[in-house]
Amino acid sequence: MNFHVLTLFPKMVMQGLDASILGRAVQKGYISLEAVNIRDYTVDRHGKADDYPYGGGAGMLMQAQPVYAAWQAVTKKIAEGHLASDNHSRKGEESRTPRVIYTTPQGRVFDQSLAEELAREKDLIFLCGHYEGIDERVLEAIVTDQVSIGDYVLTGGELPAMVMIDCISRLVPGVLKNEESAEYESFHDSLLEYPQYTRPEIWEGKAVPSILLSGDHARVDRWRLEQAEERTRLRRPDLYEIHTREKKALAFLEKDRLGHMDMIEVIRKKQAKIRYADENGVLLYDLPSKAWMVSAADEDMGERLLSRIPRDCPDPLFAVHQPFLRDSICRRFGAEEVNTCLQAVYTKKKPLPEPEGFTICVPDEAELPIIREAYGTLEPEAYLLERIRSEKMLAIRENGKLAAFAGFHAEGSMGMLHVLEAYRGRGMATALETRLINIFLDNGDVPFCQVFEGNQASLALQKKLGLRLAPGRIYWIS
Ligand code: ADE
Repeated sequence: MNFHVLTLFPKMVMQGLDASILGRAVQKGYISLEAVNIRDYTVDRHGKADDYPYGGGAGMLMQAQPVYAAWQAVTKKIAEGHLASDNHSRKGEESRTPRVIYTTPQGRVFDQSLAEELAREKDLIFLCGHYEGIDERVLEAIVTDQVSIGDYVLTGGELPAMVMIDCISRLVPGVLKNEESAEYESFHDSLLEYPQYTRPEIWEGKAVPSILLSGDHARVDRWRLEQAEERTRLRRPDLYEIHTREKKALAFLEKDRLGHMDMIEVIRKKQAKIRYADENGVLLYDLPSKAWMVSAADEDMGERLLSRIPRDCPDPLFAVHQPFLRDSICRRFGAEEVNTCLQAVYTKKKPLPEPEGFTICVPDEAELPIIREAYGTLEPEAYLLERIRSEKMLAIRENGKLAAFAGFHAEGSMGMLHVLEAYRGRGMATALETRLINIFLDNGDVPFCQVFEGNQASLALQKKLGLRLAPGRIYWIS
């Protein structure tokens, strides 16, 4: 992971992050860190990087020109680095410009799940504001994420950038000595950490809990989980509520793991809000896809879950796991389009060997009409465009022409796989899906896809690549 910090105070950033664990991680090459002085890029003769705000008001604003020039220099350097190491890069994704995080109290509040998402990037650029802010035009031009570290105002964005870099770095493999510790500490499974003790066995008359000296690892693990749960319940009831819902939801969904992998994965990635869960069913709302996902043990439970979905939500989208839910939704919401899918899951951990002879890239916006025509009306045009723009699609071209494409759906499945007719039978679908599977595995996710019922070619491909088919159906309803 390479961090690039655009700042007026590069020393503060470098000195703040070169000690202890992060210092060691930089030395060992697990992460790299550069602070770029925005002032070095100003065209002002006196080195000025700020000016008065138009319309008046207190304080000074950072000007667009030096910020933009500093960003251009950094992105150019990153792109050149990628070109030089292109033989090693697998993802078509890596050619895109890196995310730019502007640290501001107006942004989305940083938390562990955002840290996990950002830890998957290869390069991250942080833009630190100072004075009264930065000219809006350059923010519009370069910033992808506005992020705050909490509801309070600091004098500048350097400390927030350092906080985020610290938190993200410890999730990068190798940075922590014991790979497990990042996983099991506070916030894993939405729980706070259990209490810990070291020598001496008795301190100031207080003894270490005797169970920790028992040598019975299973009992110690159980005790630690109980402690973590109790602590979370008392200190962070908000987190505890999330934890118990997750636990209940997973207990139901795990009964049919293959069939429910779509719901299990959105919960694990913390991208869904669990609206209700018990031993008879789960209702959740997936934030990226804006889809309601439902599974119920029986019709009665199904009705109770569906009654929790607001009637007035505009253009609702559903992915439901039972035919009685499908029928009830069609009645309740007057839904028109139902797509029946089978779910296929790659349950192995081992990456697949990638077929040779294909260069996988990302499609261009200009290729949208071809994608749209080839893929038919299965997805709205705006959705396909958004997938292309956010570089969630991969493509193969031949002689500069688009020959095949595939991608990641908003909720996290792989799909949209299509080979244009003239290019069929050459292994392009295998190459694209293999790459998608390997990207999933790189990210620590479970690869899965949903195949339209009756699509024999796709089912054969899933079988060939070793995916396992769940017995049930998923009904996508819009
Ligand atoms: N800049 C000033 N205050 C901030 C905060 N709370 N989070 C991120 N950036 C900031």
